[in-house]
Amino acid sequence: MGLKLTVIDTVKNEGKKISLKGWIHRIRNLGGVYFIHLRDRTGIIQCFAQTNVKHIINLREEDLIKITGIVKKRPKDQIDTRIKTGAFEIEILDIEIISKAKSLPFSPAREKNLPNEEVRLKYRYIDLRRPNLTRTLYIRHRLLQRTRTFLSKKDLWEIDTPILGKSTPEGARDYLVPSRIFPGRFYALTQSPQIYKQLLMVSGLEKYFQIAKCFRDEDLRADRQPEFTQIDIEMSFVKGKDIMNLVEELVIELCKEINITPQKQPFPILTYNNAMENYGSDKPDLRNPLLIENYSDLFKQSTFTIFKSIVDNDGFVFGIHVKETLSRSQIKKHEELVKKNGFAGLAYVINDNNTLKGPLAKFVNSEQIKPGTTLFLAGNDKNTVLKTLGTVRNALPHKKNKGLYFLWIKDFPLFEEDEGKIIPAHHIFSMPKEDHIRILDENPLKAEGEMFDLVLNGVELGSGSIRIHEKELQEKLFRIANIPHEQFSFFLKALEISAPPHGGFAIGFDRLVALLLDIESIRDVIAFPKTTKAQGLYDNSPSEVNTDQLKTLRLKIDK
Ligand code: AMO
Repeated sequence: MGLKLTVIDTVKNEGKKISLKGWIHRIRNLGGVYFIHLRDRTGIIQCFAQTNVKHIINLREEDLIKITGIVKKRPKDQIDTRIKTGAFEIEILDIEIISKAKSLPFSPAREKNLPNEEVRLKYRYIDLRRPNLTRTLYIRHRLLQRTRTFLSKKDLWEIDTPILGKSTPEGARDYLVPSRIFPGRFYALTQSPQIYKQLLMVSGLEKYFQIAKCFRDEDLRADRQPEFTQIDIEMSFVKGKDIMNLVEELVIELCKEINITPQKQPFPILTYNNAMENYGSDKPDLRNPLLIENYSDLFKQSTFTIFKSIVDNDGFVFGIHVKETLSRSQIKKHEELVKKNGFAGLAYVINDNNTLKGPLAKFVNSEQIKPGTTLFLAGNDKNTVLKTLGTVRNALPHKKNKGLYFLWIKDFPLFEEDEGKIIPAHHIFSMPKEDHIRILDENPLKAEGEMFDLVLNGVELGSGSIRIHEKELQEKLFRIANIPHEQFSFFLKALEISAPPHGGFAIGFDRLVALLLDIESIRDVIAFPKTTKAQGLYDNSPSEVNTDQLKTLRLKIDK
């Protein structure tokens, strides 16, 4: 038996008698002739049959059939440009029913009339029949293959690491798996291969990659899933720049696979501080042309006492200048946004036909604010103002540029403060910048690391760093962040055995696919995604288990 002919390949058989298997996407009876759109994973082709062809009058959408017929060119004026095979059609001579479809909860042929996501996830096997989703999975497949080929050519080895790992206290919450053989002990599903890939470097494997599944029990949203996929990389004897170059080359290669070109190449590089000062965010969306500017000097001399005293006390006044006169209700929206983020208020001045309006009108002049513009201002300590204006910047009206705006952000702070506690800003394995090691003792919050993130259109696409490869320094960072060493003793021991200098990176692959294809939610680029409550509606997971299973694991449920 030969392999099944695909829809897309039928067009190579003009004039020939062929057999084709596929699902009925649509069927219509037009004046005694039946027209079928027959679908498989490669596409759709139009077929037609007279009423005397056996079975034709009993067919329904989504029935799986085998047709035998002649491939014909369509007349020029009947070419269907919406489908790839649109210049051809098949005259059906014979139909065989392979499998009937019972009544459907929804039709994969009606993109404009889909039920809500819950229903689509419950019947994911139907949803995946939609040509849009099928195509996304095909592109995802091609991007994975291209990643593998590219990284293998760069001499990185694909090595898989455990999914059942050790629970460690840092990072997101772990998914735990009880051990049957050791009652009371648990594995954790790995949040990322971080520790294992570093151990591989200690083993001298030098260049590693993996398409890795990661598991995190965290609050979910459109760009977060409890299990997701990373393109994970680690290399020895490299500088940060080497890793950034490799990742950038890979990402550009993946863009080529789907014929898109990033806007700016090489990707711009900003330090964390620059990014915060210009955009109020460490993942700025460069499609948005608005910039944050420093107005502190202006208010140093001013009689507006609130801002003046902020500046006099080492605070800052920053502003965003919008080339539009905003209405009172628009301004109110932004004031509310700022308050929702816990910030006291937002000041503004509008230049409406050379008349300055707004609470700060008295304190600025029309030189500073041109007619037809609005200036928003906020003052406080630097970080607070910048973060606040970063949110405002995202919400302000602006003409969004089109395309893919990648950029690198580097030199992140190693630590941040969370409810009075010092926690790692990324993970605890990143190397402090050489001249910042001494700052660790004085003021760890001021120390920066050899860390770098890749950002695309306002989304963190990936992150990485040069790692610590000396036990003492690693212990010091654990101490600063109050992470108990014992949990990592296996790892610290490895650092004693001639660990090479190394570093790596991980790209969030689901996010990459979604952004490249301009798809809003990563759920739409994953075959079987979970809901925001981490449920698998297609298989009813998580589910209860029977008492025997619990007994074997010596577990009791406390309801
Ligand atoms: P990090 O935790 O920043 O780094 O993850 C790297 C990238 O993975 C993606 N990502 C996610 N995607 C979907 N759902 C999630 N819940 C989710 N969480 C993260 C993001 C993110 O930028 N081991 C380090 C990397 C390294 O240093 O080598 C790590 O995992 O796109």
